[in-house]
Amino acid sequence: MPRTEFIATGFHVPERVVTNDDLSRMMETSDEWIAQRSGIRTRHWVSAGETGVSLAREATCRALDRAGMQAADLDCIVYCTCTPDHFEPGNGVFLARELGLSDVPAIDVRNQCSGFVYGLSVADAWIRTGQYRRVLLVGAEVHSRGLDRTTRGRDTAVLFGDGAGVAILGPTDDLQRGVLTTHLYADGRHAEKLWVDAPGLAHDPFISEELIRAGKHRAVMDGRDVFKYASVLMPQSIATALKQNGLTPADVKLLVPHQANLRIIEMVQKAAGLRDDQVYVNIQKYGNTTAASIPIALHEALDEGRLARGDLLVLTAFGSGFTWASAAVRW
Ligand code: COA
Repeated sequence: MPRTEFIATGFHVPERVVTNDDLSRMMETSDEWIAQRSGIRTRHWVSAGETGVSLAREATCRALDRAGMQAADLDCIVYCTCTPDHFEPGNGVFLARELGLSDVPAIDVRNQCSGFVYGLSVADAWIRTGQYRRVLLVGAEVHSRGLDRTTRGRDTAVLFGDGAGVAILGPTDDLQRGVLTTHLYADGRHAEKLWVDAPGLAHDPFISEELIRAGKHRAVMDGRDVFKYASVLMPQSIATALKQNGLTPADVKLLVPHQANLRIIEMVQKAAGLRDDQVYVNIQKYGNTTAASIPIALHEALDEGRLARGDLLVLTAFGSGFTWASAAVRW
């Protein structure tokens, strides 16, 4: 069986930059509060005409360029998002259409902040078994249009940003390299601690003025519990990934964690026993872009020369569900 390697990555964020000071003109908050608790300074928000799929298309074009490939070379799309352009069908088919593809499968993965690592696990299984050879793995989100940009929604509105990151994956016969293992977890007992209740078919009707008036279409978060579980479960999943591969923290060249919150990343780093230079952070620029955060960070880390052939890369994520995940990759 071959292993799965990263052929190329790409990312795209909207041009519009929103600073913490910009937010403080929309709601009662401050640069100091946001930066101190999350590390975030700016995030990008879409403008009229931009959608999750349009961001994903731009990111895909950059990755295809780097890979020296055409869209027609792709065999499959795995599209991870929790902010789809429409209720159905999933964004994957819209992206396929944008790319001029009419004969490849497109699956949507809805695992929020863990989406990209869950999607990597799916793509890796398909590539190793030979079902698909060239898989486009997408993490793309438009949060800004769903945020409550008033003081009522300030605990979540200041954290999330828009953006897209992709990876083109394919098989390698070099069994020393590629995705070594992926580790996926979920605990639905915490489902309502970070969720968007509606629209949803548990409600009849599934969307109504009443639901909207009650703010059920906005993300609601128990920030403290999210913080508490994220800072414990991500290091646990990193430890499992290392142990399963007979590796130790000293072997890690780079951890690219989901960029949820600088304080969470710092706690994960400490619990995982990693030095500053072993952890990649870019949350200050983009905020939390959920499924897009890991591929955007990975792309920037590669551009900065933080990973070379043979290095050990570890990915880890945590989010709504709760779901969490990690992956060990020999670059
Ligand atoms: N600006 C100013 N004040 C805010 C605010 C904002 N954007 N958002 C909330 N507050 C207020 C609250 O209303 C509350 O006020 P009160 O005490 O008068 O009720 C107070 O700040 C809470 O502050 P604090 O106790 O310091 O909050 P915290 O340390 O729990 O930090 C989070 C809040 C959201 C930053 C923190 O819980 C967190 O980072 N959680 C994880 C979030 C996350 O990463 N989610 C995504 C995971 S994938």
